[in-house]
Amino acid sequence: MGGAGLKWIVMAATVALMVGGGARAAVPGVIPAPAHLESRSGAFVIRTGTRLLVPQDPRAARAARYFADLLQQTRGIRLATDESPAGHTAHSVVFRLDARRTVSSKTPSSTDSNAEAYAIDISPDRIVVSASDPRGLLYAAVTLWQLCTSGATQGDSAVVPSMKIVDSPRFAWRGLMLDSARHYQSPEFILQLIDWMALHKLNVLHWHLTDDQAWRLEIKRYPRLTSVGAWRVPAGAAAAADIDPATGRPRLYGGFYSQETVRRIVAHASERNVTIVPEIDMPGHATAAIVAYPRLASVVPAPATVTSNWGVYSNLYNVDESTFEFLQNVLAEVVKLFPSTYVHVGGDEALKDQWKASPHIQARMRELGVPNEEALQSYFVGRMGKFLSAHRRRLIGWDEILEGGIASDATVMSWRGIDGALAAAAAGHDSVLSPSPTLYFDTRQSADTQPGRENVVTLQDVYKFNPMPAALPVGQQHHILGVQANVWTEHIRTEQRVEYMTFPRAAAVAEVGWSAPERLDWTGFLARLPDQMNRYRMLGIHAYEDQIAGEPHLKRSSHDLRSCTNEIVLSLEDDAPLSGERAAFLVDIMNPCWIYPAADLSHVTGIDASVGQLPFEFQLGADVHIPKLNPPQTPAGELEVRIDGCNGERIAVLPLQPAVANNAVTELPAAKIAHRDGTHDLCMKFTQRSHDPMWVLDWVRLVE
Ligand code: ACM
Repeated sequence: MGGAGLKWIVMAATVALMVGGGARAAVPGVIPAPAHLESRSGAFVIRTGTRLLVPQDPRAARAARYFADLLQQTRGIRLATDESPAGHTAHSVVFRLDARRTVSSKTPSSTDSNAEAYAIDISPDRIVVSASDPRGLLYAAVTLWQLCTSGATQGDSAVVPSMKIVDSPRFAWRGLMLDSARHYQSPEFILQLIDWMALHKLNVLHWHLTDDQAWRLEIKRYPRLTSVGAWRVPAGAAAAADIDPATGRPRLYGGFYSQETVRRIVAHASERNVTIVPEIDMPGHATAAIVAYPRLASVVPAPATVTSNWGVYSNLYNVDESTFEFLQNVLAEVVKLFPSTYVHVGGDEALKDQWKASPHIQARMRELGVPNEEALQSYFVGRMGKFLSAHRRRLIGWDEILEGGIASDATVMSWRGIDGALAAAAAGHDSVLSPSPTLYFDTRQSADTQPGRENVVTLQDVYKFNPMPAALPVGQQHHILGVQANVWTEHIRTEQRVEYMTFPRAAAVAEVGWSAPERLDWTGFLARLPDQMNRYRMLGIHAYEDQIAGEPHLKRSSHDLRSCTNEIVLSLEDDAPLSGERAAFLVDIMNPCWIYPAADLSHVTGIDASVGQLPFEFQLGADVHIPKLNPPQTPAGELEVRIDGCNGERIAVLPLQPAVANNAVTELPAAKIAHRDGTHDLCMKFTQRSHDPMWVLDWVRLVE
């Protein structure tokens, strides 16, 4: 820990020194890097009262006002807008829609990359911003705002060096996926996220609206999807004990987006050139819908509660005609709400156990002439594809839709690495690259103590992702539509944490998606990053900021220890307290066991520890082996400390009894350690009678 962080800061400082103050103007803090940038001498000074010529075309006028608003919000500079048809152009900022170059495009679509192109011409007397489409003008406004927030951002003027920028994107699809099912975010947050995406020239918000743990989209025809499916009791003893006085039962967690709210969000997204691609996941990740409407189930009895465990459930929709009708009715409302060309139907992680075990499904397969369950999923997805085609939309799904055969016009979102994209391209299909773990933003950005998936995916890892796989033949490269980062929220409970996990990694994925390969330069990106971080501060984004680790000390959090094994290591948040800060624990849920490496015991007389207890809330599937428990000596169990390996001598035992009644973390009384010389690896494990709750180490401290 800390090594990579220190490197990031030192590297940025070195680059700043190398380019120096004067040359900084040649490397303006624009992210993503523009395709062409030509520096000139002199500069245009923008200050309050500088004239802004607003175009007549109302769509183009929006871009000019957007620029003015951003400048005022972040720099306090108020421009004088001039809306007259032929305003004076002397010392002014001119936004111009160049009608001659307007690309004819009847249906706004994120795949029209010419429409996103723009030019900015800056001389000491004038700034002229031009594009052939309002979408390009919007991005010109973003770039110009970035030029006004590069370098020194103090004072009442922005000095914009003279230059010419001609810019357009490399890829049409520059996406971010937000999982609003596992945890719910407010409509206000979604609107804000869309604004922030636009400031990165990200143009697709893939909205994961349904899953096992919730259904979040109001469907008028099926109200139980949200009245039942949008609510659950969170996992854990703390939530179970949190009784709602109105019902006498545990308080429910949840929420949903009404159609009116969705229309408001979609309209706002359209103004920011963000296409919202809704995802209705099927045939798996469907528990919430099946609980709401049990006739959709593949098993009898149908699951009865929207549960709060993470992982992969075996619940699949059945394949009755009435179920297809149900899903088509849902999609009919979805396409009315979302103008996006693409509609995502999931298709991921559909374990086939229930279909295999059901005589009814097996009979239906024979009736349909479908040879196996993979082909049944293909038939299922194919029917949805036909329905969407009939509504002039296109189906996109996770790469599992390739299995068992894929409908001819389907698009693949490659998440299990990039193999899905390669297979799709070879078969003539388009794809979007969003591989785990590199573009999974629920991974942690460093080895800090935040909750998240254990893999550390740094800013540099994201930046170095190659969106054009080397194995892809040149003739198939056009099948790569672009890139997308996915913010899954099992371990991201709050909106602030969404921000923390997303930024600044979103800046890296934005540059990978937008900038030409010859513009991709990690050192150059680092040099521009301080300006971007400063913008995040001005905008109120709670971005991750790299930290320099302190000296190792005698107290180590679970994140500073080594996991004994690396089966399923997660950084899990405590389920308590219900409000306020919660601890997070790094733990291998298959084997909660930690190593304190090379502890110098020469002066150590004892050890104490803080422990938490977590609900064992994981759907691990039938194949996963849960390890044997270590039998306790006392009814409540103990934390055992062993020396020189996990089978070594037991040198301390800390009884868990003081922690039993406390759902949050508990500091256990210290245990004595007999004197030893030298350094030793310490192994820490719990003894207990059952897997639930799972005891976890918060921190351990050697006492001298
Ligand atoms: C996925 O991560 N199940 C697409």
